[in-house]
Amino acid sequence: MLRTHTCGELRINNVGEKVSLSGWVQKSRDKGGMIWVDLRDRYGITQLMAEEGVSQPEILTKARELGREFVINITGTVKERESKNDKIPTGEVEILIEELTVLNPAKLPPFLIEDETDGGDELRLKYRYLDLRRNTVREKLRLRHKVSSETRKFLDQQEFIEVETPVLIKSTPEGARDFVVPSRMNQGEFYALPQSPQTFKQLLMVSGFDRYYQIVKCFRDEDLRADRQPEFTQIDCEMSFVEQEDILNMFEGLIRHLFKTVKGIDLQEVPRMDYADAMKYYGSDKPDIRFDMKFVELNELVQNKGFQIFDDAELIVGINAQGAAQYTRKEIDKLTEWVKRPQVGAKGLVYIKYNEDGTLKSSVDKFYSEEDKLVIAEKFGAKPGDMMLILSGEKNAVRKQLNELRLEMGSRLGLRNADDYKVLWVLDFPLLEFDEESNRWHAMHHPFTSPKPEDINLLSTSPGEVRANAYDMVINGTEVGGGSVRIFQKPLQQRMFDLLGFTPEEAEAQFGFLMSAFEYGAPPHAGIAFGFDRLCSLFGGSDSIRDYIAFPKNNSGRDVMIDSPAPISEEQLKELGIETK
Ligand code: AMO
Repeated sequence: MLRTHTCGELRINNVGEKVSLSGWVQKSRDKGGMIWVDLRDRYGITQLMAEEGVSQPEILTKARELGREFVINITGTVKERESKNDKIPTGEVEILIEELTVLNPAKLPPFLIEDETDGGDELRLKYRYLDLRRNTVREKLRLRHKVSSETRKFLDQQEFIEVETPVLIKSTPEGARDFVVPSRMNQGEFYALPQSPQTFKQLLMVSGFDRYYQIVKCFRDEDLRADRQPEFTQIDCEMSFVEQEDILNMFEGLIRHLFKTVKGIDLQEVPRMDYADAMKYYGSDKPDIRFDMKFVELNELVQNKGFQIFDDAELIVGINAQGAAQYTRKEIDKLTEWVKRPQVGAKGLVYIKYNEDGTLKSSVDKFYSEEDKLVIAEKFGAKPGDMMLILSGEKNAVRKQLNELRLEMGSRLGLRNADDYKVLWVLDFPLLEFDEESNRWHAMHHPFTSPKPEDINLLSTSPGEVRANAYDMVINGTEVGGGSVRIFQKPLQQRMFDLLGFTPEEAEAQFGFLMSAFEYGAPPHAGIAFGFDRLCSLFGGSDSIRDYIAFPKNNSGRDVMIDSPAPISEEQLKELGIETK
C-alpha cells in the first residue's frame, strides 16, 4: 500500500508516529525557511511541512516544485502543530516530510478545486472528474450512496428481491419519447431503451416474485429541466396481493426509514389529498405544503358588481399573502409584470391590501365598496398587514397561474425553507386526460393503471370523470414518486387499450405478451417508482438533480466531457443498415 493512513485520519494521539500518506496537493505555501503543503484525498486534508535546517535540502527542493493537484506520496513523522486549525479534524497535527515521491505531476487545473470554485457550469461538466474532487460535490455522491444503501436495507428486510430487467427492449408508453438503438442483426428494426421497467415488473408478479424492487436506470427523450435528466434512476417496486392502502403504508415506511437514517428526521404522519382538492386549493398536482396560502374562490362575492373582467371570467381565485401589506406600489407593479410574463401568462393582477389601520386598499376600488372588500377579506381569513392577490380567467389556466404566484410569494416570504420537509400523498388521479392535439384520450399515469371499481361504469359515458387507483408522493412541491394499482385481467386491459385508441391488432402487436401473461394466472398487483435522483437532491437541499449524478448531461442533453451524442462512422452505419445521403 502506498499509505499507512488516509489524509483524514491522523489526530493528536498519533504524534510521534512514522506514517506514509498519498494524495493530491491542494495547495502549498513557501515562507522562506518553511514550506507547508495541504495534502488531500477523499477522507480529508492533512498538512505536511518541511523546514530548512531540519529537513534534507533535497526534500525542500522537491517540496518547492510541487504544483496544485500533483499526486504524491510522502513518509514522515506526525508532529503537534504550533498554530492549530480547529476547522478540520486533522487540524492539530502536521507531518514533517522525510521522503517525498511525485507519483504523477499535474497540469494546472482549469478551475480551483476548492469548495468555492471559480469554474462555470459548462467548464466543470467538461472536467467533471476534477469537479468530483471537490468536497461539496463528492459529499453529494456520498449522500446518494447512503440513500441507495438504506433503500436496499429497508426493502431487503421487507423481503423484496432485486431483479434486473433488460435495457434493450421495446417501446413502453410512459408518455415521453423513446431513445432507440438500431439492431445490426435485425436490420431496419430497433430496440427502445426503457422509460421504466413497468411491463417487466408486472410480468415478475405473474411469475410469482411477490415483492420486487430494482434501483434502475430509465431513459426518456424529453425536454430537460432542473429536475429532469434523459437518463435517470428509479427505485422501482411492485407487490402482489395488495391494495392501494398496502402500497401507501409500505412506501411511507421506506420514506420514513430514509428520513431517519439519512437526515436524522422523524417524519410525522404523511397527509393525503385528493387530486381534485390539490387542483382546487393549490392549482397543482404537486402542492408544496410547507406553507398554507390556499386558494380562495371568489366568483360569488365579486361578480355582478360592474367589473367586466371578473364578470367575464370562468373563475376568480386568489391567495392571501400574510404580512405582505407593506408592498409598495412599485413592488406591486413589478409583481404584476411578473405574473404577465409568458412563463406565467396571467392577463393582470388584482390586489387588496389590508392596511395595519384596518382600511382596505385595492386596485379595483372603483367597483367594490369598503364593505365588499371586508367580506372578501373575511373569506380569505385575512388580517391587517396582509395582502390578497387575485387572478381571473379560464379555470384551468388561472389555477396554473395562481400556483406559480403562490410559490413565488412563498419564496419571497421565506416560507420555503429547504431544511423543512413536508411529505404528501396525492391520490385519486383521473384515469385519462384528453389530448386536444391528437384528439384522443391518453392514460394520465400509464395504460396499465386500473380505474377505481366504483367509477368503471363511467368508462363508456364520461371517461374524463373516471378516477384511477393512482397515487403520487410529493415532497416540498416535487413529485418524488408515482404508481398505481394495476389492471390484471385481460378484458379490462383490452378495454383500456380500446379507449386509448388502439385497434385490437395494434394492442396485440404492442402488448400481446402482457395480455397473454394475464391469461396464465396473474395475481392482483400494484406498485410505485421513486425518482431516486430527485430524492437525493431533496435530501441534499438542492433543486437540481444534476449535482447528484456522477456524470450528468447538460441542458441540451449532451455529455460535454466525452462529447456525446456524436456521429458514427460510415462503416458502422452501413453495418446497421442505416442509409445515409
Ligand atoms: P413515473 O413516470 O411517474 O412512473 O416516474 C416515477 C418517478 O420518476 C421520476 N422521474 C424523473 N426523474 C428524473 N428525470 C426524469 N426525466 C424523470 N422522469 C420521471 C419522478 C417520478 O415520480 N412505471 C411508473 C411507476 C409505476 O407505476 O410503478 C413510472 O415510471 O420522480
